[in-house]
Amino acid sequence: MRYGYFDDDSREYVITRPDTPLPWINYLGCQAYFGLISNTAGGYSFYRDARLRRVTRYRYNNVPFDMGGRYIYLRDEQSGDFWSPSWQPTCRELEDYRCRHGMGYSIIGARYRDIEARTRYFVPLDENLEIWQLSITNLRSWPAPLSVFSSIEFCLWDAQDDATNFQRNFSIGEVEIEPGIIYHKTEYRERRNHFAYFACSAPVAGFDTQREAFLGPYRGWDRPLAVERGSASNSVAHGWAPIGSHHVKVLLEPRETRQIIFLLGYHENPVEQKFDPPGSQIIHKASVRPVIAKYLNRSHADLAFQALRSYWCDLLSICQVDTPDVHTNRMVNIWNPCQSMATFNLSRSASFYESGIGRGLGYRDSTQDLLGFVHMVPARARERILDLAATQLPTGGAYHQYQPLTRRGNNDIGGNFNDDPHWLIVGVAAYLKETGDWSILDEPVPYDNQPGTEQPLYEHLQRSFRYTLERLGPHDLPLIGRADWNDCLNLNCFSDSPGQSFQTTTNKDGKVAESVFIAALAVLTGREMAAIAAHRGKPKEAAAYAEEATLMERAIRAHGWDGQWFLRAYDDFGRKVGSAECEEGRIFIEPQGFAVLAGIGLEDGLAAAALDSVYQLLATEHGIMLQQPAYSRYYLHLGEISSYPPGYKENAGIFCHNNPWVMIAEARLGHGDRAHDYYLRINPSAREPISELHRCEPYVYPQMIAGRDAPTHGEAKNSWLTGTAAWNYYAITQWILGIRPSYDGLEIAPVIPAGWPGFRATRKFRGTTYYITARRAGSGNQVSLIVDGGSVPGNIIPLASNPGTHVTVEATVS
Ligand code: GLC
Ligand code: GLC
Repeated sequence: MRYGYFDDDSREYVITRPDTPLPWINYLGCQAYFGLISNTAGGYSFYRDARLRRVTRYRYNNVPFDMGGRYIYLRDEQSGDFWSPSWQPTCRELEDYRCRHGMGYSIIGARYRDIEARTRYFVPLDENLEIWQLSITNLRSWPAPLSVFSSIEFCLWDAQDDATNFQRNFSIGEVEIEPGIIYHKTEYRERRNHFAYFACSAPVAGFDTQREAFLGPYRGWDRPLAVERGSASNSVAHGWAPIGSHHVKVLLEPRETRQIIFLLGYHENPVEQKFDPPGSQIIHKASVRPVIAKYLNRSHADLAFQALRSYWCDLLSICQVDTPDVHTNRMVNIWNPCQSMATFNLSRSASFYESGIGRGLGYRDSTQDLLGFVHMVPARARERILDLAATQLPTGGAYHQYQPLTRRGNNDIGGNFNDDPHWLIVGVAAYLKETGDWSILDEPVPYDNQPGTEQPLYEHLQRSFRYTLERLGPHDLPLIGRADWNDCLNLNCFSDSPGQSFQTTTNKDGKVAESVFIAALAVLTGREMAAIAAHRGKPKEAAAYAEEATLMERAIRAHGWDGQWFLRAYDDFGRKVGSAECEEGRIFIEPQGFAVLAGIGLEDGLAAAALDSVYQLLATEHGIMLQQPAYSRYYLHLGEISSYPPGYKENAGIFCHNNPWVMIAEARLGHGDRAHDYYLRINPSAREPISELHRCEPYVYPQMIAGRDAPTHGEAKNSWLTGTAAWNYYAITQWILGIRPSYDGLEIAPVIPAGWPGFRATRKFRGTTYYITARRAGSGNQVSLIVDGGSVPGNIIPLASNPGTHVTVEATVS
C-alpha cells in the first residue's frame, strides 16, 4: 500500500494521506539553519547545532510521535469550527490533503469546508531563518470571515538543559513584543548574544507568548483555548514556556486568495551591541529589522524560493542518469543526493530517531558521509575534512565525535574505536579523486585543536595509518579497541551492570581481541596511501604503504579466512568470532563486503566464495542481514551486539549501511545482476509498494530493516541520518554504473545487469561535463571507450586540457 506518489518532474514526494505509518519527514535548510518537518508539520528548528542552539522545542518520544511543530490553525468565524491544514494537531477530516516534500522545502495543506490552505515552508539560502508562506483561498460562493493563528514553542537554547532543568527554566523565559514580531530572548540579559524572532506579514488582531495562556489549562495543541475562543490574550511570557502565536483576521471574498507570511529566525548581535539603548535590557534590533522586512515581503520570499530551487537544480545536475530502472534514476537523480546533503550537514545528530542531544558529528560517520557529498559542494567537503582532522589526537587516534558549534572533539559517546582513524583516509581520498585539489594535503592542521601543533594534513593521514600498525594483536591483525565500524561488537567491554553504556564504560586494555574488518579497511587505506604518496612524488613512501597493505592482506589470508568466508574477529580469549565453529554469529557481512571491496581474493576464488556465502546465508528479500545466526542470548564477551533482540540493529538486522559494501564487492567480481539486485532490495523507492510493512519514508534510506529473525521482518527504522545514504550513492554511481572519479581522470567501468541495453549519464567532473552513453554489446564487463569520436585506451578518460568543455563518451560494454 502507498501513502502518496513520486512526482519526479517536480522532484517531490507527494503524501496524499496524513496518517503515514511513521512521520515522514523532510529537512529544511542546508547550510547553517536547519529544520525537521514531518508531513503533518511536526518538528523543530536549530541553528548549526541541534543541541546547543535549539530554536524550537521538541518532546522526544511524544504521542503522537511528531507532536509539536509549526502549526497553523484556521477558525471559521461564522461557525466557530477550527482546523489545521496540516491535519495535526486538530486532526479534522480534510479533503485533498497533500504534503509535498521537495529539495529543502515542504508544502503542506488541504481543503476543509471549501477553504483551501497550503503552507510552503523553506529556509532561504544564506539566511538563518525559515519562511512559512500560507495561502488561503475561499472556494465558497459567499464571503468567509476567518481567524488565522500561528504557533511555535521556543526552546531555551540548550536542548538537553531545556528538557531537564525545569526548576530553573520555568523562571527564565523572556520575550519582547512589537506589532507583528515576537522576540524570544531567554538568557539574552546575561551571556547569550543571540535571540529568535517570529514575525507575521499581516496586521495582527492579537498575540500570545505564554503557552498556558494560548492553550488554556489542561489542554494540548489539538484544541488551544485561544483558537476555540477566536481571540488571543496578548499574553507576555515571564518564565514558564515562551511561545509565539499571532492572531490574524481575514475576510475572504468568494474565490479570493490571501497570502500571509510568517518568519521564524535566529539572529546574533555583536557582544558590545546587544542592547538599544546601551545600558538597557532591550534587544538591539537594527541589524535584524531589514532581514525581517525583506522576507515578510512576498516577492522577496518568492525569489528566495526560486533561488533555492535553482541551487538544488545545479547541485543535482552534477550527476544525472537515465537507466532502464526508474528506482535507480529517481534515487540517483533526486533523493539520494538530497539525503546525502542531510547526512553531510547533520551526521547522526538530529532526526526523529536521533534526538539532537545525544550525538554531535561522528568522526567515522562524517568522514564516510563525504563519499556521497564531495561532488556536490567540494569546498564544504574540504572545510569538513580540515575540521575533522583538527580534532585528531597526536597518536593518530580520534575523538569519536565533535560538536558542530564548537568544532571540538569529545568522548561523550566513547573513544578508542580503532577503525576511526582510517576513515579520514577514505574521505580525503574521495576528495582528491573528485577535485584533484592536492593542495589540501599541505594545509597545516593542528592536533586536538591545540594551536602550535599544526602539521600538514598529509602527516595526519600518515598518523592515521600508523595508529593501526602500532596496535596489532597476536595474529598481526589490528586490535579492535572499544569496537570497530560495528559499534556494538564490544570485545573488551564485559559489561554486566544494567544501565552501563557499552560505548563509554571502562574497557579492558585489549591486547588480544582483533578485528578482521579493520584489517580489510587497512588494506584499502594502505593502497590509497600508496597512490597518494606516489602522486606526491614519494615513491619510497608509496612502496612502504603498498608493502604494509600486502602484509595486512597476508595476515587476513593466514588468520582471517574461515574456509568459506572471512572471519569477523578474535575475542579477548583469542577465540574466533564469525566462524563456522561458532554456535551463533557464524558469518558477518562486514568483512565479506569490505575485504572484497578492498580487492582481496578477486583472483583466487576467496572473494567469490565469500560472496556466495553471503548470498546463501545472509541475503533476504529485504536486504542482507548483518550476521547469522542471530545471537539468541546475551554474551558478556561480545557486548551490545547480543543485547539486541534477534533481527534488530546489529544483532542480525539488515543494517543498510553495509549492504552497498557487498554491492561494490559483487561489482568488483563482475556480477552486475547480483549487485543491482541487492541495490533494489533496500532501495526505498522500490519498496514504496510495501510502505505498510516498511513504514519509513519511501524516498530515503533507513539505518535498519528488521532481519529474518525479527517478528517484523522487513520493517524499517531510523530513517534519514545513516551512512547508508553515502555508501549507496557511491555503490550505484561509481561501481554499478561505474562512473568513477580517480586520481587521474574519470574512469568508466559499468558493471550493469545483463538485461540492460545500456544507460546514459551526465557527469560534471573537474570543470568538464561528460555526456556518457553506455551500450551493452556483449554479456561481459569489458569496456571500450570512444571519447569525442576518438578511441581511448583503457577506461580512464584523460583529463580535459581546457576545463569548461563538453566531452562525449561512448562506452561499449561487451
Ligand atoms: C551507527 C553509527 C555508526 C556505526 C554503525 C554500526 O550507524 O552511527 O558509526 O558504524 O551504527 O554500529
Ligand atoms: C548504539 C547503536 C549503534 C550506534 C551506537 C552509537 O550502540 O546500536 O547502532 O552506532 O549506539 O553510539
